[in-house]
Amino acid sequence: MIEFKDVFLYYSGRQVLDGISMQIPDGKITAILGPSGSGKSTIIKLMLGLIQPTYGQVIVDGVDISRFSEEQLFPYRKKMGIVFQGNALFDSMTVGENMGFFLRENLDLPDEEVSRRVHDQLKFAGLETHEHHLPDSLSGGMRKRVAIGRALIFEPEMVLFDEPTAGLDPVSSNKILSFIKQLNNEKGLGAVMVTHIISDVFAAADVVLILYQGRIIFYDAPEKMKDSDHPFVQSFLRDPEEW
Ligand SMILES: Nc1ncnc2c1ncn2[C@@H]1O[C@H](COP(=O)(O)OP(=O)(O)O)[C@@H](O)[C@H]1O
Ligand SMILES: [Mg+2]
Repeated sequence: MIEFKDVFLYYSGRQVLDGISMQIPDGKITAILGPSGSGKSTIIKLMLGLIQPTYGQVIVDGVDISRFSEEQLFPYRKKMGIVFQGNALFDSMTVGENMGFFLRENLDLPDEEVSRRVHDQLKFAGLETHEHHLPDSLSGGMRKRVAIGRALIFEPEMVLFDEPTAGLDPVSSNKILSFIKQLNNEKGLGAVMVTHIISDVFAAADVVLILYQGRIIFYDAPEKMKDSDHPFVQSFLRDPEEW
């Protein structure tokens, strides 16, 4: 569904991506692993058409979206839910209002339909009793689940997670990773999860793509990492804290 063809990205003359080609499989959990500053959030922005590649193509369902206008992008963005690193919830809106916000803003649905979908998501996320609470009153793990619910409400085919466990304690991290796997198992939903934390990859990913110095240096199942002869993959496995 999502494909990059020889994607280069420069920010004001400084190269971040150095010719990336990849295909993200449908219905699987794909991790993109890389050190801080390696271009992981940039890749997510490219997938959503929030930024344009300097060279190369970003292809969604067979169509190159890399030069599309906002209006042309809408049907493609609707196929992808996004969960931002800091959740990007609206602090002054309740949990229920947050979940329904983009649906209300973008689709001309009857109020009952919006409300039905919000209740489905609240139930799935185990947040039914928190519908009228403000995000600030929730734990980090619950806020993450609100952000996930908001991403799922368009009924996307793929959800993009930017560092889903960042800032969470180990117990909440594990819960969120299990939740991502549950979405995949029960709803067949594909996911792209960018992270710099190797245990996230082993806990949840079917395939992992390692980003290093603007290139993809590994693309296979996580358990194959140990067989890689790339010095960076080896040094990383020996000492993941050194990133
Ligand atoms: N809008 C921007 N303008 C200039 N440089 C940027 C911009 N966004 C990110 N960068 C730089 O590009 C590199 C990759 O950033 P990013 O994709 O956020 O990395 P990651 O998510 O892997 O930490 C970093 O060096 C960052 O400082
Ligand atoms: Mg980032």
